[in-house]
Amino acid sequence: MTAPIDLRSDTVTRPTDAMRAAMAAAPVGDDQYGEDPTTNRLQARVTELLGQEAALWLPTGTMANQVALRVLTRPGDEVIASRESHAGWHEAGGAAANAGVQVHEIGARGVFSVDEMLAAIKPKSFAIFPSTTLMQIENTHNRAGGVVVPQADVQRLCDAAREHGLARFLDGARLWNASVATGLAPAALAAPFDLIAVAFSKGLGAPGGSLLAGSKALIQSAHRHRQRLGGAMRQNGIFAAAALHGLDHHLDRLAEDHANARAFAEQLAAAAPVQLDLASVQTNIIVFHLPASVAIDAPTLTARARERGVLLNAFGPRTVRAVTHLDVSGAQCTQAAQVLAGLLNG
Ligand SMILES: Cc1ncc(COP(=O)(O)O)c(C=O)c1O
Repeated sequence: MTAPIDLRSDTVTRPTDAMRAAMAAAPVGDDQYGEDPTTNRLQARVTELLGQEAALWLPTGTMANQVALRVLTRPGDEVIASRESHAGWHEAGGAAANAGVQVHEIGARGVFSVDEMLAAIKPKSFAIFPSTTLMQIENTHNRAGGVVVPQADVQRLCDAAREHGLARFLDGARLWNASVATGLAPAALAAPFDLIAVAFSKGLGAPGGSLLAGSKALIQSAHRHRQRLGGAMRQNGIFAAAALHGLDHHLDRLAEDHANARAFAEQLAAAAPVQLDLASVQTNIIVFHLPASVAIDAPTLTARARERGVLLNAFGPRTVRAVTHLDVSGAQCTQAAQVLAGLLNG
């Protein structure tokens, strides 16, 4: 049986032979003593790429987000985030459990305006309100379909947040995709923020790992919180080598994933009765909806597609997500669109 076409996530990629060779050859040491040369090299490289003062390895993007919240807020605070943010939807309530904060989601389709943000900031004058201390942006935005938040909007939001005394955090798990899609350097996308999280386990194809970057003082604080959450590793160079390999060899090719996502979306929208906003397909994620006229719901569609060798995620009763990545070709994306069209028209 041939391997399925796995469009569930860009996290399903397996390290290439070249990445595995880089991992096997990596010089390592104990990272809790700061002695892992490959982790140190990765941290220095990403510090520079993001135009920051320091960076710290975290085993997952979820932990990077938790640590960022703990560094930038206090228990009882409120955090402003976009609608259907990763922090609010995919971290098992970690914002509340690990940082003691509540997430206030605003806007739509991955973005929000300065007016919406200002309206969401609780007045400081009365003790009944939580303190709104942090504004975070997810770029690209996962559940909104990989949309890029326009950098002019990011700048305006961060300026307004600063004026109102809010810290600024970028969940940039897919910042590499935003950079390739816009042609803007990662440092330019990161500049308006206090802390930035980036991931290696998504489009870059590494088996794990994220980094938090920011000022030396904030990263020092992040270090303490990483330890507290149990995220400090030892001979981590094996992972860091995979991340470095991803930066060297898989960054520019993200454009291919974006082109495959666009072609898949156009083919599906043309051939099947789905609601698919082509304008939202800006990077490697496609979110589409099944209108009431379609007889089957999203879990049924994904179950039937699985039987035909195509894996996707049902994101809601009538919402489906597909993600392109290193391990799916353009031809496989076309095949997947044909399978879905067959199921939806049949
Ligand atoms: C926007 C965003 N942030 C954070 C994460 C968390 O990353 P991890 O799966 O490494 O915990 C993800 C994972 O998909 C994500 O999409």
